[in-house]
Order: sequence, then C-alpha cells, then structure tokens
Amino acid sequence: MSELKLTNLRKTFEKGTVNAKVALDHLSLTVPAGDFITVLGSNGAGKSTLFNAILGKFRLDGGQVVLGGRDLTRLRDYRRALNIGCLYQDPLRGTAPHMTLEENLALAYTRKAKKSFFAVNRRDTAYFRDLLRTLRLGLEDRMKTQMGQLSGGQRQAASLLMATVAEPELLLLDEHTAALDPETAAKVLDLTRSIVAERRLTCLMITHQMQAALRMGNRTIMMNKGRIVLDVSGDERDRMTVDDLTRRFRQQSGQALDNDRMMLEPV
Ligand SMILES: Nc1ncnc2c1ncn2[C@@H]1O[C@H](COP(=O)(O)OP(=O)(O)OP(=O)(O)O)[C@@H](O)[C@H]1O
Ligand SMILES: [Mg+2]
Repeated sequence: MSELKLTNLRKTFEKGTVNAKVALDHLSLTVPAGDFITVLGSNGAGKSTLFNAILGKFRLDGGQVVLGGRDLTRLRDYRRALNIGCLYQDPLRGTAPHMTLEENLALAYTRKAKKSFFAVNRRDTAYFRDLLRTLRLGLEDRMKTQMGQLSGGQRQAASLLMATVAEPELLLLDEHTAALDPETAAKVLDLTRSIVAERRLTCLMITHQMQAALRMGNRTIMMNKGRIVLDVSGDERDRMTVDDLTRRFRQQSGQALDNDRMMLEPV
C-alpha cells in the first residue's frame, strides 16, 4: 500500500474548440496509504477522467501524480499498470475471455512477479485455488472454465482477484458492480471490502449508489465539474445519511440530485 498524492490536476478535452470540456479543474487530493475512498458524482463530473489521469491514459494539461513517493506524471500508462490494479463496469474488460480462469490469474500474477507465464507451477496453481476457495464463490472448481463462460458476477469476482493478486500499490474501481443485479452486486461489494482490508490496499471506488458509498471504505468524496466538492470521513461520515449527502451536494453545487442514480436534474 502506498500514499497517492494528486496535485492541481487539470484537463480540458477538445481544448480551444466549441466542444471544450473541463474534466479536471485544479483537482488536488491526498490519499494516505491504506485509505479506502468512495467517489460519488453525477454523470460527467470527471470521476473516470480522474482515474484515467492516475493511470496515465492521456497527457494532463497540468498537475502532478505521485504514488508511493514516485512521480508518475510523465510515465507512460503501461509502465504504471504494474502498480495500479483497476476494474471497470464491463466484467470482460482487462481479461482474456477465451483463456481459463486459472490462465487469467496466472497472467495477472506473473506480469508483476516478472516470472514467465509458462513458469507458473503447481504451487502457484494451488495458491490460486486456495484464494478462490476463501472467496466461497464456487470458483475453485471452475479453474478450467473460460472467463467468457462465467456469469457477470463471477467474472467481476475473478477480475477483482486478478487486479489484486499481484499486490498493487493502488486499486481503482470504476463502477465495478454497476452492471450486476443487486444481490450479486452486494456479494461483489462484500468481496471488495474483504480483499481491500486483507491486503491493506489503498483504494478508490467510484459508485453511483450513495448508500454503498457511505457503507464502504473510510472516506467519501463527491465530484462536480472536475472538482472535489465534498470530502467527509470519521464521525462526520459515520453520522451521514443519503439525505444529508444529497443536501450537501445541492449546497455545494447549486444543483439538484436524484438519490438513486445521482443524475442531474434542472433545479
Ligand atoms: N476522451 C474524451 N474526449 C472528450 N471528452 C471526454 C473524454 N473523456 C471524458 N470526456 C468528457 O469529460 C467529462 C467528464 O467525463 P467522465 O467520463 O470523467 O465523467 P464521469 O464522472 O466518469 O461520468 P459517468 O458517471 O457518466 O461515468 C464529460 O463531459 C465527458 O464528456
Ligand atoms: Mg465514469
């Protein structure tokens, strides 16, 4: 686990055109090592852009990204990828659907261990199986199943394991349960909570569900128009209800908010 320090991040898409869109507006955030922050915000607030900035998916207009004391700002995305695990809404993104669960895990594991994929031995396989057993998802018996044949929930659980098996310095979750039915989503959230705690990961999780945002992790931030408009933790957060969150968002942004999906509505 490592501290993440973002300083003055700025990004405008299609700069200089009529479509110019400020996605990150002088955003600064320090995430102490081991913090688990949930990230809220309406559609287009800049949440995914924030993750993409951390991952190095584009060149920033300005600002600095430091992880574990190392300045990543000018590092290409593939060189950051080893230290940052990420998961998206689409369960198949970032996995090889025609490879088996075991092969996918081995791939994720050996990438970081600087081991050859073909050098994965029986001990490693036993380790993966053990890991899967602890998750109690019935996946340990499906090691030879292709990723593409697992259910959405099983794939997200497996992807979560793949993203963390190599012990990344940082875990980024971008609405990773949004495509799942409520029951499966709850299961994957439980799994997320236990993996993050067990591996003591520094984690940022984007969600549209305010209830989950308050229940998971130890701190909640809310974004609007590329800025952080709310940052709560500790007692203040423990006492907070979804209604409080909605009210605070309205005060901060001057906009109304629908509780469930955090869609913007005209005031
Ligand atoms: N590659 C891109 N090119 C042009 N505009 C972009 C690009 N990526 C994001 N944007 C714009 O930047 C703004 C922020 O987008 P972003 O995807 O970060 O929002 P978000 O908070 O993740 O929203 P959602 O909840 O819908 O996922 C939006 O106006 C979006 O249209
Ligand atoms: Mg997004």
